[in-house]
Amino acid sequence: MKNPLGSGPPRTGLVPDAHLEKKQMSRLHSVHAYPPTVGMVKPKVIVMDHPMVMEQLSLIRDKRTSQIAFRKAIYRLGRFMAYEFLRTMEIQEFTVETPLGPARGGQIKGRERIVIILVLRAAIPFVEGMYKNFPMARTGVVSAWRGKPPDFPIEVNYTKIPEVGKNDVVVIADPMLATGHTLKEVAKRVVKQGHPKRLVFFSVIATKQGIDYVAKDFPRAEFYTCAIDPTLNDHGYIVPGLGDAGDRSFGAPH
Ligand code: URA
Repeated sequence: MKNPLGSGPPRTGLVPDAHLEKKQMSRLHSVHAYPPTVGMVKPKVIVMDHPMVMEQLSLIRDKRTSQIAFRKAIYRLGRFMAYEFLRTMEIQEFTVETPLGPARGGQIKGRERIVIILVLRAAIPFVEGMYKNFPMARTGVVSAWRGKPPDFPIEVNYTKIPEVGKNDVVVIADPMLATGHTLKEVAKRVVKQGHPKRLVFFSVIATKQGIDYVAKDFPRAEFYTCAIDPTLNDHGYIVPGLGDAGDRSFGAPH
């Protein structure tokens, strides 16, 4: 079936990803088939295509959307993605007593183990939305600057990452996973602080090229996104994408 948004993989409904734990899978709404690059481990990729996500994604793609509306939509996407992500966490089951008798209860386990890494500046509203569902998250901040093509050298000029424990779930948040150069550099700095139980990337739009680039060094990482777009232009921008996510949230610097 053709994707009505005109980009990303066709909407095929529930296509299980063999690398996802069965328990996680059963709790997720939707997973697209992700074609592996020959000779490479197939990364764990989850495309969140809930109708609420699709609406906000359409809004941020639209070039007429104002700065304020854009930022609010990124905030909502952070909130939705975090909400959906909680399905993949373990549940501690228990019995709860209602006034009329016992009932099954449950609590999300390890929510306090979530560490968010905010990649400046585009992730600011994204992470603000994520806090709605990860209120206890410890947070690291990284400021990274991507240089010119074809090598896209990454300059990291600020890093503040908390210590990472072996039971932590680290979520690296950047709305655009384009070439993957920035996120690979960020992830390298995260694992210097310790090796988490799960290393997760949250983006609103990703490319297969970018995911594969990061997954080559981080094969156990998980990639959650709202869309996978087909290409990058010569400047490393996602096409069709949405333009520069930082500029659209905060205004262009010049
Ligand atoms: N960063 C953006 O803001 N947009 C892109 O398309 C790629 C990287």
